[in-house]
Amino acid sequence: MPQGPYSDKVMDHFMNPRNMGEIEDADAVGEVGNPACGDVMKLYLKIEDNKIVDAKFKTFGCGAAIASSSITTELIKGKTVDEALKLSNEAVAEALGGLPPAKRHCSVLAEDALKNAIEDYKKRKGLT
Ligand code: FES
Repeated sequence: MPQGPYSDKVMDHFMNPRNMGEIEDADAVGEVGNPACGDVMKLYLKIEDNKIVDAKFKTFGCGAAIASSSITTELIKGKTVDEALKLSNEAVAEALGGLPPAKRHCSVLAEDALKNAIEDYKKRKGLT
C-alpha cells in the first residue's frame, strides 16, 4: 500500500533513479532551475539522426524532481527530437502515477529541462 502522498512509481524512481549521471560528449545539454524552491535540473542528450539515443540527468532537488528527471530520460529515449518536444509535464506526472498538487512544478522542471536541451541541440545544429 502506498504511504503518504507519493505513488509507488515516484518512490521507485526516487530510490532507484534511472540514467543518473552525465554524458561527456553530449549533443545537447539543458539546465533549468526553479527560483522558488531552488532546485536545479541538468539533462544531457546524445542524439543521432535526429533521434535521442541516450539521456542522463543530474538533479539537485527534491524527490519528486529526481523521480521526474528519471522517468523523463526513460520516456524520451528512442524518440525523435520532435516527438520528445511534445512531452508535457502532465505526461511526466502521469507516467509517475501522479504527483501531489504541491509537487507538480517538479514535473514542469523536467519538461523545461528537456525543452532547454532540445533548444541547445537546434542551436548547435544551426536549426533555429
Ligand atoms: Fe522544487 Fe520539487 S520542490 S522541484
